[in-house]
Amino acid sequence: MKGIILAGGLATRLRPLTWVTNKHLLPIYNKPMIYYPLQALVDAGVKEILLTSSPDHAGHFVNLLKSGEDFGITLSYAYQKNPKGGIADAILLGEEFAKNERIVVILGDNIFHFDLKESINQFEKKEKGAVVFGVKMDTQSKQYGVIEMDDADKVLSIEEKPEHPKSDIAQTGIYMYDERVFSFIKNLSPSARGELEVTDLNNFYLKEGTLGCEIIDWWIDAGTSYDELLRANNLVAEKVKNGELS
Ligand code: DAU
Repeated sequence: MKGIILAGGLATRLRPLTWVTNKHLLPIYNKPMIYYPLQALVDAGVKEILLTSSPDHAGHFVNLLKSGEDFGITLSYAYQKNPKGGIADAILLGEEFAKNERIVVILGDNIFHFDLKESINQFEKKEKGAVVFGVKMDTQSKQYGVIEMDDADKVLSIEEKPEHPKSDIAQTGIYMYDERVFSFIKNLSPSARGELEVTDLNNFYLKEGTLGCEIIDWWIDAGTSYDELLRANNLVAEKVKNGELS
């Protein structure tokens, strides 16, 4: 299993913080944001990781993370020509890197803590398919993908930022895909906002009946707003102090 971390996009919602630097290099308590998804993959035993970013900031990541030696992994880099091409467009950059292996993808602004290693082990036993990770939100949220599930934990639908959410389960930015993911992406068309959407990709697997969903306890998308960035800083500070995160 190989890992891909996405750190592109324009982060317009966090300007002026992101005029001259990349969102994923902003501090979350005592570390740059990108350290959290990277450490999550390292802790899960993923040894080969690709980091995708935008042309303006690719060099900053190389300066910070080098070849991955500080984390005991091999780190490769790719840049997305169109920084707003969409999440699925960025994943496609990993086709050569994946070399027909399965991939675990994490959005570079996502912070969480659960046993990803066990999820990977279970996924590797499946014949084919994909897995998304959901989290229950206090209030129904229109700013995320929304996952609808039945009582038997079967995924019924996933909708991107729906006007009328069908559930209180947000789709996080953690995904696992089988080897066919790149051919599915090549069949996607840009959405109304001009992006190749991860939700459309996940719906390929849903239609095929091979999409699983795991619910995790807590998760923050630190990149959605100043308030979520602040909340991420405070929550991580608390979890570092109580030993849940290092
Ligand atoms: O964080 C979870 C949400 O992420 C999901 O609930 C949504 O279904 C999914 O579409 C996505 O929504 P966002 O609107 O939050 O995505 P955003 O544009 O903020 O990008 C998420 C990450 O992906 C961010 O770390 C930057 C990176 N990215 C994004 C785009 C559009 C890229 O690397 N390249 C891109 O082209």
